[in-house]
Formats: sequence, C-alpha cells, structure tokens
Amino acid sequence: MRGTAVTFEGVSKRFGSVVALDDFSLRIEPGEFVTLLGASGSGKSTALNIIAGFSDATSGDVRIGNRSVLGVPSEGRNVGMVFQNFALFPHMSVAENVAFPLRMRKVGRAEIDERVQRALDMVRLGGFAARKPAALSGGQRQRVALARAVVFEPPVLLMDECLSALDLKLREELQEEIRRIHDQIGATSIFVTHDQGEALTMSDRVAVLAGGRIEQIDRPDVLYDRPATRFVADFIGRTNLIEAEPVAGGLRIPGIDTVLPAAPGQRVISLRPERIARASHLTDADKITFSARLEQSSFQGATVDHQVRLANGTELTLREGRSGAFTPLQPGAEVALAFRRQDAVILADR
Ligand SMILES: Nc1ncnc2c1ncn2[C@@H]1O[C@H](COP(=O)(O)OP(=O)(O)OP(=O)(O)O)[C@@H](O)[C@H]1O
Ligand SMILES: [Mg+2]
Repeated sequence: MRGTAVTFEGVSKRFGSVVALDDFSLRIEPGEFVTLLGASGSGKSTALNIIAGFSDATSGDVRIGNRSVLGVPSEGRNVGMVFQNFALFPHMSVAENVAFPLRMRKVGRAEIDERVQRALDMVRLGGFAARKPAALSGGQRQRVALARAVVFEPPVLLMDECLSALDLKLREELQEEIRRIHDQIGATSIFVTHDQGEALTMSDRVAVLAGGRIEQIDRPDVLYDRPATRFVADFIGRTNLIEAEPVAGGLRIPGIDTVLPAAPGQRVISLRPERIARASHLTDADKITFSARLEQSSFQGATVDHQVRLANGTELTLREGRSGAFTPLQPGAEVALAFRRQDAVILADR
C-alpha cells in the first residue's frame, strides 16, 4: 500500500467568534509522517477532524490525493483513525474489534481472518485475539485501536493524542511501534500531540501550530537547531533568549564582547544551554568566550544545568553532560565559558 498526499489549502474554521484555523495551508507528502504540535487550543484537533470528515471547513479546500473531500462523508474518505478516547467495543473480542472495519467493507470471512491476524501480529498482540478489551492493559487497548485503524490499509492514518493517557515508558515504547508500523504500511500519517519530545522523535516533519496557524514546519533537527521565530525557539526545548543590543555591524549580547551579524529587525538571540560549554572544552578557533559566575546547579541525571550570571547581570543556563571529563562547579565560582558563533540563532523579536 502507498499513502496519498493530504493538502489543506487556505482552510479557515470558525466556531462563532472563535477562529480555530486561520488560513491554514499544508501539504503532506505521500507516505510522510507529519506531527501537528501546539499548545491546547491551537487548532490541532480541528485540523484532524476536518480531514476525517467530522467537521467542515468554513472556507478553503481539503484534498486527499487529488480529490477534494469537501462534502464527502467520513465513511467515504477511507481514513484510519486512532484517538485518545476512541473506545473499543466492550462486548466484542479483540479480533472482532479489529475485524469491524473489514466487515463494514464487506470483506470475505477468510480474508478478514487473515488480515486481522496480520494486524494483531503487527502490534504484537497475536496471542490476544479472543480477549475482551476489559481484560487488557491501557497500552494493549491502544494497540488494538491501532490495529483496527490500519487493518483496512488506509492510505491516510490520523492519530490525535493517542498516547497521552499512557505512562512515560509505555508511551515511548508505542512511539517506536507506531513509527515502525507507519514505515511498514507506507500510509501518510498525521499525528497530533502537545508533547514535543514525542513530536521530535517520531516525525519526518513537525508543524508548530499557534492560534490556528503554522508558525514553522520543518524536519525535527531543523526546528530545534534553526527555529524561525522567537516563539518556536522558546516552545521547542529549552533555550536562552537574549535581548541583544543593535550596534554598528549587527547585534551585541550585553555582557559579552562580540558583535554578531544581523538583519534589520532582528533583536533576539537564541542560544541552547547545551551549546554553551566551559571554554577549555571548546576547541573551535572561532569560539566566543566570556566569564560568568555560577549561581546554582541542578542535577538532571545524565546532565546538569548550571545557572550563571554575567558581570552585567545577564542570566544564562548551560547544560553539561556528566560523562568522563565532568567535574562539578562550586556556587560562586568564576568560570570561563564559550559558544560557537554559528550556534547563536538570531531572530526577529516577535
Ligand atoms: N465545537 C466547538 N465549538 C466551539 N469552539 C470550539 C469547538 N471545537 C474547538 N473549538 C475551539 O477551537 C479552538 C481550537 O480547538 P482544538 O480542539 O482544535 O484545539 P487543540 O489544539 O486540539 O487543543 P487540545 O490540545 O486541548 O486538544 C479552541 O479555541 C477551541 O476552544
Ligand atoms: Mg485536541
């Protein structure tokens, strides 16, 4: 099976005076795994519901493949769905639950049995066919829901916060499993979450939504390393957002003696905590060094976060790994620190 493209073209959705989607345009390529990431109320579910046919766009067009699906009922769209509270039928066995979409499509008995078994094997529940949902763990139930969503080989698979009710370990396990199944079946997957770690690990591309619009859509590493806006820099991971001072030739970080080239209108510098290091650990010729006083350190397990303060009062956080060469720092200590010029991301102030 091969996934089909999904396209939003200038889609707006209003609920009375609330604008849930605002001139939203996005093309998801066949077989791609795209995650919609955003805070509560940013329009993620609204976008998914419009593809699923549970909700109509106020304006704009939505296409699955080359075909506009405006006015096409949900059943006619051939889309697989897994939602957080998309309950299994409690009176049916696991196998009957998974068989349901095939029965609706009038698939023959023998083929149903074979495809149900294959789908259950895929989610590693091959031995659970006869169980009732009540006799399954939360993670197993979610896997049955996934098997039911993919059993009819939909070209498009929609998942809305389908892991958020599970504990961390199980969630991480299922993240890998969903990605593996996606790769195996080749469907176009659209995944919704407000968990950025989940979005970054699972996706080919992540769309960051805010106020019903896409702030930025990019590969996870690009989103993290090269955020396009202050909002995205702040939303994805942790960062130091520094209000810089416009000077001749660019921007100066208060308290650090260097000028970074910048375009007009750029006022803010994003510098990830792990991109700041002790000066002696950075061998780059082009590094920018500065001195700071340690305020406090907080232990994270694999890493330690240090809060430091520059002579002019600017506060920064740096993150160090605790492998081999790591030595703790004492509060009050004056430390020589550095970062690479290219690790400072210069942003417009919005
Ligand atoms: N049926 C509705 N009637 C009125 N307003 C709605 C309706 N559905 C959604 N909204 C509003 O539209 C906006 C977007 O909602 P949506 O459910 O898409 O957000 P979301 O990003 O999925 O949030 P969450 O992470 O909380 O699930 C919100 O302001 C919400 O209150
Ligand atoms: Mg939602």
